[in-house]
Amino acid sequence: MTIIIKKCRREDLQILQEISIETFNDTFKDQNSPENMKAYLEIAFNSKQLEEEMSNISSEFFFIFLNEEIAGYLKVNMNDAQSEKVGNESLEIERIYIRYKFKRKGLGKYLFNKAMEITLRQGKQMIWLGVWEKNASAIDFYKKMGFVQTGVHSFYMGDEEQFDYIMTKSLI
Ligand SMILES: CC(C)(COP(=O)(O)OP(=O)(O)OC[C@H]1O[C@@H](n2cnc3c(N)ncnc32)[C@H](O)[C@@H]1OP(=O)(O)O)[C@@H](O)C(=O)NCCC(=O)NCCS
Repeated sequence: MTIIIKKCRREDLQILQEISIETFNDTFKDQNSPENMKAYLEIAFNSKQLEEEMSNISSEFFFIFLNEEIAGYLKVNMNDAQSEKVGNESLEIERIYIRYKFKRKGLGKYLFNKAMEITLRQGKQMIWLGVWEKNASAIDFYKKMGFVQTGVHSFYMGDEEQFDYIMTKSLI
């Protein structure tokens, strides 16, 4: 079993878009209306939006490969790219997605360790994320990785207001 993590480059835009849409759909389609899913996917993962995010120097995307096949991806944000104003001493895991057939093989933990490595290398003190309150399996995974709930914020999925738990792991 060969596991490799590679930083995404601009030329990876299309494959990143495909994997982003596939994994978002698989994760959330059963608990959300098709209309709200469509609205969210169009806004969050259109080419222009992803291109802007990839060119932001305070964000990084990584693919994880298992035996040369893309198994998932990670997006981390620092400084002003973070989706909450939490200051420059922290790093946000904005997206961590493992494709359906690759789940529960240790790859999510591998991507989390990549985020930890960046956090420590940058001398940051805290790692944090927002997770949908109804995404029980991701919440269990984050608890396993040592995160605790420290807040809540709301966002819109299409026309529906939903709530994310803010989860934090302190490194000091
Ligand atoms: C959440 C996710 C990233 C976890 O990745 P994964 O590769 O399946 O998880 P791993 O195999 O690396 O598991 C790491 C640890 O978490 C635990 N874990 C993983 N999923 C779990 C679950 N659903 N329930 C309980 N524990 C879980 C594992 O048992 C393992 O524990 P261990 O280290 O003691 O063996 C993955 O399931 C996923 O992509 N889910 C859909 C997308 C998603 O919800 N992303 C988060 C959006 S905020």
